[in-house]
Amino acid sequence: MAVKLTAIQADITALAVDAIVNAANGSLLGGGGVDGAIHRAAGPELLRECRTLGGCEIGDAKLTGGYRLPARYVIHTVGPVWRGGVRNEPERLASCYRRSLEIAAEHGIRTLAFPCIATGIYGYPVELAAEVAYRTVSAMVVRPISIEEVIFCCFSADDLAVYARLLSLDTK
Ligand code: AR6
Repeated sequence: MAVKLTAIQADITALAVDAIVNAANGSLLGGGGVDGAIHRAAGPELLRECRTLGGCEIGDAKLTGGYRLPARYVIHTVGPVWRGGVRNEPERLASCYRRSLEIAAEHGIRTLAFPCIATGIYGYPVELAAEVAYRTVSAMVVRPISIEEVIFCCFSADDLAVYARLLSLDTK
């Protein structure tokens, strides 16, 4: 069955999907942006579980429960800080998407939502990041996989417009 790729404008903490992805930092102990929003919405049990994980490398991902979120799981990944594109940022960002999908598939996850990883506090230009996201996810889902739907969850209308162009969506 073909995997559905969609883009929406939403608060990722409100999505009733099997798993949402968190754009975390290496400590996995919370932060600002989407990370802060996810921890606030999930409640303190999330931080308790994150403390047991021993952090996460850039480009890797780790799974926890979703606690008070509508999503059953959170997949925490750590994007690269943008340094002009000369420090393997595209490869590292692609790895975030790849590892998140691999972990999702290992847990039989069918619906998965990504935020625009690394494009906020970490400064990755959204057009470049979206191309990496779209290319990497498209390449992964051609193999047999548990995943049925991947949602690119954009916080702003501008970000949604970037994904809509890539996915050839009509957002009107
Ligand atoms: N739902 C969906 N997207 C959101 C939400 C939300 N509730 N809130 C923000 N975004 P950022 P990064 C978008 O800065 O660049 C944290 O402190 C936001 O508009 O959250 O990977 C971590 O602990 C942007 O498009 O993550 C790290 O230290 C996207 O999420 C650091 O920030 C990512 O922005 C990670 O920086």
